[in-house]
Amino acid sequence: TRKIIIDCDPGIDDTLALNLAIQSPEVEVVALTIVCGNVPVEIGVDNAFKCLERLGRLDIPVYAGAAQPLKKTFVSAQDTHGMDGLGDSHIPRQTTTKAAEQSAADFLATTFKAPCDISIIALGPLTNIATALTLNPQLGANCARFVSMGGTYKSHGNCSPVAEFNYWSDPEAALAVYEHLNQKIEMIGLDITREIVFTPTLLAYCQRINPEVGDYLAAITQFYFDFHWQYEHIIGCVINDPLAVAYFIDPTLCQGFESYTTVETTGISIGQTLVDRFDFWHRPINSLILTEVDTNRFFEQFLTVVLNAQASIIKT
Ligand code: BDR
Ligand code: CA
Repeated sequence: TRKIIIDCDPGIDDTLALNLAIQSPEVEVVALTIVCGNVPVEIGVDNAFKCLERLGRLDIPVYAGAAQPLKKTFVSAQDTHGMDGLGDSHIPRQTTTKAAEQSAADFLATTFKAPCDISIIALGPLTNIATALTLNPQLGANCARFVSMGGTYKSHGNCSPVAEFNYWSDPEAALAVYEHLNQKIEMIGLDITREIVFTPTLLAYCQRINPEVGDYLAAITQFYFDFHWQYEHIIGCVINDPLAVAYFIDPTLCQGFESYTTVETTGISIGQTLVDRFDFWHRPINSLILTEVDTNRFFEQFLTVVLNAQASIIKT
């Protein structure tokens, strides 16, 4: 098994990603670090615990992180994820377990003091990672792999015509990570996550195969379905974050190219990823930009784990 730390802002799709990671035998989730993003950080911490409680995995420590981006004013995505961050499902907490004393950034900085076999999967704005990198500039070099859900190459943004939410939320943090991580960033951007549409048909399938899990998925995704219909006229919802976990486990799921990539921090293009695929700038490669995904294979992997039953897809 490969060890991972998941930095996240749960969030509906983050929660789906946590369900996948925690139940996948190929990975061991060492810790969760929480950042403000979809919801204020305290709500994100609560939602991480709700997920751990449900899966009976309160042994996994949770570290609370940044409550604000590095410079920009915090803007949540509660319009997309619900005020409670779980589609206003109002799932109650079952325990009073609290986040660890140490901050997320301190924990990350100390964990990666020396080279180790732990990877980071970042599913939210990169504030915690950027702060940890300031505390420990070797963090990137010392982690095994770094996968980030964020950015976009050819596809349009979801916060502006050009910017994706995680990088738009804290562009200074995203820029710092791209410029100083010193480890190849495997970027799972909107180009491929947009293809991961969880549809009412798939939901109905889940409810048939495993009614308990199916009903849980229905409770947290209904709000997301409504949001997608209202703003994009999509039937179903784009679930970005689980793809980063699925790809970490099985890198053959996505294809792409290596490039130098940076992030815009000012003006109307704030948060945009600039992917220098054709090497105009002659800068060293810092990223692997994933641009193709095998959607059916993703859903087979994701649903088999989450439903705890072999899922066969099923032309969608
Ligand atoms: C990203 O932003 C959030 O809304 C999702 O959780 C995902 O991490 C997609 O742009
Ligand atoms: Ca997220």
